[in-house]
Amino acid sequence: MTSLTIARPDDWHLHLRDGAMMRAVLPHTAQHFARAIIMPNLVPPVVRGDQARAYRDRILAALPGGMAFEPLMTLYLTEDTDPEDVAAAHASGLIKAVKLYPAGATTNSASGVANFDNVRATLDRMAEIGLPLCVHGEVTDADIDIFDREAVFIDRVLDPIRRATPGLRVVMEHITTSNAVEYARAQDDSLGATITTHHLVINRNHILAGGIKPHYYCLPVAKREEHRLALRAAATSGEVRFFLGTDSAPHTDANKLLPCGCAGCFTAPNTMAILAQVFEQDAALDRLEAFASRNGPAFYRLPVNSDTITLTKSAPNYPVQIDTEDGPVTVFDPGFDLEWSVC
Ligand code: DOR
Ligand code: ZN
Repeated sequence: MTSLTIARPDDWHLHLRDGAMMRAVLPHTAQHFARAIIMPNLVPPVVRGDQARAYRDRILAALPGGMAFEPLMTLYLTEDTDPEDVAAAHASGLIKAVKLYPAGATTNSASGVANFDNVRATLDRMAEIGLPLCVHGEVTDADIDIFDREAVFIDRVLDPIRRATPGLRVVMEHITTSNAVEYARAQDDSLGATITTHHLVINRNHILAGGIKPHYYCLPVAKREEHRLALRAAATSGEVRFFLGTDSAPHTDANKLLPCGCAGCFTAPNTMAILAQVFEQDAALDRLEAFASRNGPAFYRLPVNSDTITLTKSAPNYPVQIDTEDGPVTVFDPGFDLEWSVC
Protein backbone atom coordinates (compact mmCIF):
# COMPACT_ATOMS: atom_id res chain seq x y z
CA MET A 1 0.00 0.00 0.00
CA THR A 2 1.39 3.44 -0.87
CA SER A 3 -1.48 5.69 0.11
CA LEU A 4 -4.04 5.60 2.91
CA THR A 5 -6.96 7.96 3.48
CA ILE A 6 -8.59 7.96 6.91
CA ALA A 7 -11.07 10.13 8.78
CA ARG A 8 -9.14 13.06 10.27
CA PRO A 9 -7.66 11.91 13.59
CA ASP A 10 -8.08 13.44 17.05
CA ASP A 11 -5.60 13.50 19.92
CA TRP A 12 -7.26 12.38 23.16
CA HIS A 13 -4.42 13.62 25.41
CA LEU A 14 -2.38 16.70 24.56
CA HIS A 15 -0.26 19.28 26.38
CA LEU A 16 -0.44 22.63 24.60
CA ARG A 17 1.00 24.74 27.46
CA ASP A 18 0.35 28.48 27.21
CA GLY A 19 1.85 31.69 25.84
CA ALA A 20 4.88 31.45 23.54
CA MET A 21 5.19 27.67 23.87
CA MET A 22 1.54 27.19 22.92
CA ARG A 23 1.90 29.44 19.88
CA ALA A 24 4.88 27.36 18.72
CA VAL A 25 3.40 23.87 19.22
CA LEU A 26 -0.30 24.38 18.40
CA PRO A 27 0.10 24.50 14.58
CA HIS A 28 1.85 21.12 14.63
CA THR A 29 -1.21 19.49 16.18
CA ALA A 30 -3.78 21.49 14.20
CA GLN A 31 -2.06 20.47 10.97
CA HIS A 32 -3.10 16.83 11.38
CA PHE A 33 -5.72 16.66 14.14
CA ALA A 34 -9.24 18.06 14.21
CA ARG A 35 -9.66 18.01 17.99
CA ALA A 36 -7.66 17.30 21.11
CA ILE A 37 -8.34 16.78 24.79
CA ILE A 38 -6.32 19.60 26.34
CA MET A 39 -4.48 18.82 29.56
CA PRO A 40 -5.04 21.32 32.38
CA ASN A 41 -1.64 21.10 34.13
CA LEU A 42 -0.70 24.71 33.58
CA VAL A 43 0.88 26.83 36.31
CA PRO A 44 -1.49 27.57 38.01
CA PRO A 45 -3.68 24.62 36.94
CA VAL A 46 -7.03 24.97 35.16
CA VAL A 47 -9.33 24.05 38.03
CA ARG A 48 -12.55 26.01 37.44
CA GLY A 49 -14.89 26.45 34.52
CA ASP A 50 -14.05 30.14 34.08
CA GLN A 51 -10.35 29.27 33.82
CA ALA A 52 -11.06 26.57 31.22
CA ARG A 53 -13.10 29.04 29.17
CA ALA A 54 -10.30 31.63 29.25
CA TYR A 55 -7.73 28.96 28.33
CA ARG A 56 -9.88 27.78 25.43
CA ASP A 57 -10.14 31.36 24.18
CA ARG A 58 -6.34 31.77 24.36
CA ILE A 59 -5.89 28.56 22.35
CA LEU A 60 -8.33 29.69 19.68
CA ALA A 61 -6.66 33.11 19.53
CA ALA A 62 -3.26 31.43 19.02
CA LEU A 63 -4.50 29.33 16.10
CA PRO A 64 -2.95 30.54 12.84
CA GLY A 65 -5.49 31.94 10.36
CA GLY A 66 -7.00 29.31 8.10
CA MET A 67 -6.41 26.41 10.49
CA ALA A 68 -9.39 24.60 11.99
CA PHE A 69 -8.98 22.98 15.39
CA GLU A 70 -11.33 22.32 18.30
CA PRO A 71 -9.80 22.22 21.78
CA LEU A 72 -11.75 19.88 24.05
CA MET A 73 -11.23 21.31 27.50
CA THR A 74 -10.67 19.56 30.82
CA LEU A 75 -10.62 20.60 34.46
CA TYR A 76 -7.86 19.66 36.88
CA LEU A 77 -9.36 17.78 39.82
CA THR A 78 -8.34 19.02 43.26
CA GLU A 79 -9.59 18.22 46.73
CA ASP A 80 -11.32 21.62 46.66
CA THR A 81 -13.10 21.12 43.34
CA ASP A 82 -16.75 22.20 43.50
CA PRO A 83 -18.92 19.45 41.94
CA GLU A 84 -21.47 22.06 40.83
CA ASP A 85 -18.83 24.10 38.97
CA VAL A 86 -17.81 20.90 37.15
CA ALA A 87 -21.44 20.06 36.33
CA ALA A 88 -22.09 23.58 35.00
CA ALA A 89 -18.95 23.54 32.83
CA HIS A 90 -20.09 20.22 31.41
CA ALA A 91 -23.69 21.31 30.88
CA SER A 92 -22.54 24.36 28.90
CA GLY A 93 -20.54 22.10 26.58
CA LEU A 94 -17.24 23.68 27.67
CA ILE A 95 -15.50 20.65 29.17
CA LYS A 96 -15.33 17.08 27.97
CA ALA A 97 -13.49 15.49 30.91
CA VAL A 98 -11.93 16.02 34.33
CA LYS A 99 -8.30 15.12 34.88
CA LEU A 100 -7.07 13.25 37.93
CA TYR A 101 -3.42 13.64 38.83
CA PRO A 102 -2.37 11.87 42.00
CA ALA A 103 -0.54 14.62 43.92
CA GLY A 104 3.14 14.58 42.97
CA ALA A 105 2.85 12.02 40.15
CA THR A 106 4.17 14.19 37.33
CA THR A 107 4.73 17.69 35.88
CA ASN A 108 2.65 20.31 37.72
CA SER A 109 0.68 17.75 39.71
CA ALA A 110 1.28 19.30 43.13
CA SER A 111 -2.37 20.44 43.35
CA GLY A 112 -3.60 16.94 42.52
CA VAL A 113 -5.38 14.48 44.77
CA ALA A 114 -3.77 12.98 47.88
CA ASN A 115 -6.89 11.86 49.76
CA PHE A 116 -9.43 10.31 47.42
CA ASP A 117 -12.22 10.62 50.02
CA ASN A 118 -12.08 14.36 49.40
CA VAL A 119 -13.07 14.05 45.73
CA ARG A 120 -15.89 11.56 46.28
CA ALA A 121 -18.69 14.11 45.80
CA THR A 122 -17.22 15.28 42.50
CA LEU A 123 -16.76 11.72 41.21
CA ASP A 124 -20.35 10.86 42.16
CA ARG A 125 -21.62 13.93 40.33
CA MET A 126 -19.53 13.03 37.26
CA ALA A 127 -20.96 9.50 37.25
CA GLU A 128 -24.45 11.01 37.38
CA ILE A 129 -23.88 13.28 34.35
CA GLY A 130 -21.69 10.88 32.36
CA LEU A 131 -18.60 13.11 32.40
CA PRO A 132 -15.38 11.09 31.89
CA LEU A 133 -12.50 11.08 34.38
CA CYS A 134 -9.09 11.00 32.68
CA VAL A 135 -6.66 9.30 35.01
CA HIS A 136 -2.91 9.59 35.31
CA GLY A 137 -2.54 6.08 36.69
CA GLU A 138 0.54 5.97 38.87
CA VAL A 139 0.90 5.75 42.63
CA THR A 140 3.37 8.18 44.12
CA ASP A 141 4.58 6.22 47.14
CA ALA A 142 8.34 6.54 47.52
CA ASP A 143 8.58 2.85 48.38
CA ILE A 144 6.98 1.69 45.11
CA ASP A 145 9.45 1.16 42.29
CA ILE A 146 8.80 3.62 39.45
CA PHE A 147 8.43 0.74 36.97
CA ASP A 148 5.65 -0.79 39.14
CA ARG A 149 3.68 2.37 39.84
CA GLU A 150 1.08 1.87 37.12
CA ALA A 151 0.30 -1.75 37.99
CA VAL A 152 0.04 -0.91 41.70
CA PHE A 153 -2.23 2.06 40.93
CA ILE A 154 -4.70 -0.20 39.11
CA ASP A 155 -5.05 -2.49 42.14
CA ARG A 156 -4.88 0.05 44.94
CA VAL A 157 -6.57 3.12 43.48
CA LEU A 158 -8.28 2.72 40.13
CA ASP A 159 -10.25 -0.42 40.72
CA PRO A 160 -11.46 0.69 44.19
CA ILE A 161 -12.56 4.08 42.78
CA ARG A 162 -14.51 2.43 39.99
CA ARG A 163 -16.18 0.00 42.39
CA ALA A 164 -17.09 2.85 44.75
CA THR A 165 -18.48 4.99 41.92
CA PRO A 166 -20.72 2.82 39.76
CA GLY A 167 -21.22 4.26 36.29
CA LEU A 168 -18.16 6.53 36.45
CA ARG A 169 -16.70 6.73 32.94
CA VAL A 170 -12.90 6.49 33.08
CA VAL A 171 -10.04 6.86 30.63
CA MET A 172 -6.85 5.11 31.69
CA GLU A 173 -4.38 7.50 30.13
CA HIS A 174 -1.08 6.73 28.42
CA ILE A 175 -1.05 3.09 29.52
CA THR A 176 2.41 1.53 29.56
CA THR A 177 2.02 -2.03 30.82
CA SER A 178 0.47 -5.36 29.87
CA ASN A 179 -1.28 -5.15 33.27
CA ALA A 180 -3.15 -2.06 32.09
CA VAL A 181 -3.99 -3.66 28.73
CA GLU A 182 -5.39 -6.72 30.50
CA TYR A 183 -7.33 -4.65 33.00
CA ALA A 184 -8.82 -2.46 30.26
CA ARG A 185 -9.85 -5.48 28.20
CA ALA A 186 -11.70 -7.02 31.14
CA GLN A 187 -13.96 -3.99 31.76
CA ASP A 188 -17.23 -2.83 30.23
CA ASP A 189 -17.55 0.13 27.88
CA SER A 190 -17.46 2.66 30.72
CA LEU A 191 -13.68 2.31 30.50
CA GLY A 192 -11.35 3.45 27.71
CA ALA A 193 -7.56 3.57 27.50
CA THR A 194 -5.27 5.86 25.55
CA ILE A 195 -1.88 4.84 24.20
CA THR A 196 0.87 7.27 23.17
CA THR A 197 2.93 7.05 20.02
CA HIS A 198 6.23 6.94 21.87
CA HIS A 199 5.22 4.02 24.09
CA LEU A 200 4.58 1.99 20.93
CA VAL A 201 8.17 2.63 19.84
CA ILE A 202 10.48 2.74 22.88
CA ASN A 203 11.12 0.52 25.86
CA ARG A 204 13.23 1.32 28.91
CA ASN A 205 16.45 0.31 27.17
CA HIS A 206 15.99 3.20 24.77
CA ILE A 207 16.19 5.56 27.75
CA LEU A 208 18.98 3.93 29.70
CA ALA A 209 21.18 1.61 27.64
CA GLY A 210 24.32 3.04 26.04
CA GLY A 211 23.98 6.44 27.73
CA ILE A 212 21.01 8.28 29.22
CA LYS A 213 18.58 9.79 26.68
CA PRO A 214 16.63 12.59 28.36
CA HIS A 215 14.41 13.09 25.32
CA TYR A 216 12.97 9.60 25.86
CA TYR A 217 12.14 10.28 29.52
CA CYS A 218 8.43 10.73 30.10
CA LEU A 219 5.86 9.69 32.68
CA PRO A 220 4.71 7.04 33.00
CA VAL A 221 8.23 5.92 32.11
CA ALA A 222 8.59 3.38 29.28
CA LYS A 223 8.71 -0.19 30.61
CA ARG A 224 10.19 -3.53 29.49
CA GLU A 225 9.92 -4.76 25.90
CA GLU A 226 7.17 -7.24 26.76
CA HIS A 227 4.99 -4.31 27.83
CA ARG A 228 5.71 -2.36 24.65
CA LEU A 229 4.63 -5.40 22.65
CA ALA A 230 1.39 -5.65 24.63
CA LEU A 231 0.69 -1.98 23.86
CA ARG A 232 1.43 -2.53 20.16
CA ALA A 233 -0.98 -5.47 20.10
CA ALA A 234 -3.69 -3.42 21.83
CA ALA A 235 -3.28 -0.34 19.62
CA THR A 236 -3.22 -2.29 16.37
CA SER A 237 -6.08 -4.60 17.40
CA GLY A 238 -8.75 -2.10 16.43
CA GLU A 239 -10.55 -2.87 19.73
CA VAL A 240 -12.84 0.01 20.51
CA ARG A 241 -11.55 0.69 24.02
CA PHE A 242 -8.02 1.62 22.85
CA PHE A 243 -7.40 4.99 21.19
CA LEU A 244 -4.68 7.53 20.52
CA GLY A 245 -3.69 10.04 23.15
CA THR A 246 -0.23 11.29 22.19
CA ASP A 247 0.64 12.96 25.51
CA SER A 248 2.78 15.20 23.30
CA ALA A 249 4.44 17.23 26.06
CA PRO A 250 6.85 19.93 24.92
CA HIS A 251 9.68 21.07 27.17
CA THR A 252 12.58 23.21 26.01
CA ASP A 253 15.84 21.36 25.53
CA ALA A 254 17.24 23.48 28.36
CA ASN A 255 14.64 21.96 30.69
CA LYS A 256 15.09 18.41 29.38
CA LEU A 257 18.89 18.37 29.50
CA LEU A 258 19.33 19.07 33.19
CA PRO A 259 20.60 17.08 36.17
CA CYS A 260 16.87 16.82 37.03
CA GLY A 261 15.23 17.07 33.62
CA CYS A 262 11.54 17.35 32.81
CA ALA A 263 9.39 14.40 31.71
CA GLY A 264 7.75 14.48 28.30
CA CYS A 265 8.15 13.55 24.63
CA PHE A 266 7.15 16.05 21.94
CA THR A 267 5.49 13.95 19.23
CA ALA A 268 2.91 16.28 17.69
CA PRO A 269 4.79 16.88 14.39
CA ASN A 270 5.55 13.25 13.52
CA THR A 271 2.97 11.17 15.37
CA MET A 272 0.91 10.27 12.31
CA ALA A 273 3.99 9.36 10.26
CA ILE A 274 5.28 7.14 13.07
CA LEU A 275 1.89 5.50 13.59
CA ALA A 276 1.54 4.69 9.90
CA GLN A 277 4.87 2.91 10.03
CA VAL A 278 4.07 1.08 13.28
CA PHE A 279 0.73 -0.13 11.94
CA GLU A 280 2.32 -1.13 8.63
CA GLN A 281 5.05 -3.09 10.42
CA ASP A 282 2.34 -4.97 12.30
CA ALA A 283 0.25 -5.55 9.14
CA ALA A 284 -2.55 -3.44 10.61
CA LEU A 285 -2.73 -0.33 8.41
CA ASP A 286 -6.43 -1.06 7.95
CA ARG A 287 -6.89 -0.54 11.71
CA LEU A 288 -5.05 2.80 12.01
CA GLU A 289 -8.31 4.67 11.43
CA ALA A 290 -9.98 2.85 14.33
CA PHE A 291 -7.15 3.75 16.70
CA ALA A 292 -6.57 7.35 15.61
CA SER A 293 -9.95 8.52 14.34
CA ARG A 294 -12.88 6.31 15.40
CA ASN A 295 -12.48 4.74 18.83
CA GLY A 296 -11.89 8.02 20.66
CA PRO A 297 -15.06 9.72 19.37
CA ALA A 298 -16.98 6.54 20.19
CA PHE A 299 -15.87 6.73 23.83
CA TYR A 300 -16.43 10.48 24.13
CA ARG A 301 -19.81 10.19 22.33
CA LEU A 302 -18.77 12.65 19.64
CA PRO A 303 -19.11 12.33 15.88
CA VAL A 304 -16.20 11.01 13.83
CA ASN A 305 -14.63 13.86 11.84
CA SER A 306 -16.17 14.17 8.42
CA ASP A 307 -13.02 15.29 6.61
CA THR A 308 -10.00 13.08 5.99
CA ILE A 309 -6.23 13.02 5.87
CA THR A 310 -4.17 11.07 3.37
CA LEU A 311 -0.91 9.36 4.29
CA THR A 312 1.43 8.55 1.44
CA LYS A 313 4.56 6.51 1.30
CA SER A 314 7.17 9.24 0.96
CA ALA A 315 9.80 10.47 3.38
CA PRO A 316 8.17 12.97 5.71
CA ASN A 317 9.63 16.36 6.15
CA TYR A 318 9.14 17.39 9.75
CA PRO A 319 11.64 19.36 11.81
CA VAL A 320 14.08 17.62 14.15
CA GLN A 321 13.69 20.56 16.50
CA ILE A 322 11.31 23.51 16.61
CA ASP A 323 12.14 27.03 17.71
CA THR A 324 10.10 28.72 20.39
CA GLU A 325 10.58 32.06 22.11
CA ASP A 326 11.57 30.03 25.18
CA GLY A 327 14.24 28.08 23.28
CA PRO A 328 14.39 25.00 21.03
CA VAL A 329 12.18 21.94 21.61
CA THR A 330 13.38 18.61 20.22
CA VAL A 331 10.88 16.46 18.31
CA PHE A 332 10.66 12.79 19.33
CA ASP A 333 13.12 10.65 17.36
CA PRO A 334 11.60 7.22 16.70
CA GLY A 335 15.05 5.80 15.99
CA PHE A 336 14.20 4.66 12.47
CA ASP A 337 13.77 6.43 9.14
CA LEU A 338 10.16 7.36 8.56
CA GLU A 339 8.57 6.31 5.33
CA TRP A 340 5.10 7.89 5.51
CA SER A 341 4.03 11.48 5.30
CA VAL A 342 0.74 13.26 5.74
CA CYS A 343 -0.41 15.36 2.83
O1 DOR B 1 5.84 12.84 30.42
C1 DOR B 1 4.91 13.53 30.84
N1 DOR B 1 4.87 14.87 30.63
N2 DOR B 1 3.95 12.95 31.56
C2 DOR B 1 3.00 13.65 32.17
O2 DOR B 1 2.18 13.07 32.82
C3 DOR B 1 3.01 15.13 32.11
C4 DOR B 1 3.72 15.62 30.94
C5 DOR B 1 4.01 17.09 30.99
O3 DOR B 1 3.11 17.87 31.32
O4 DOR B 1 5.14 17.46 30.69
ZN1 ZN C 1 0.06 14.06 29.83
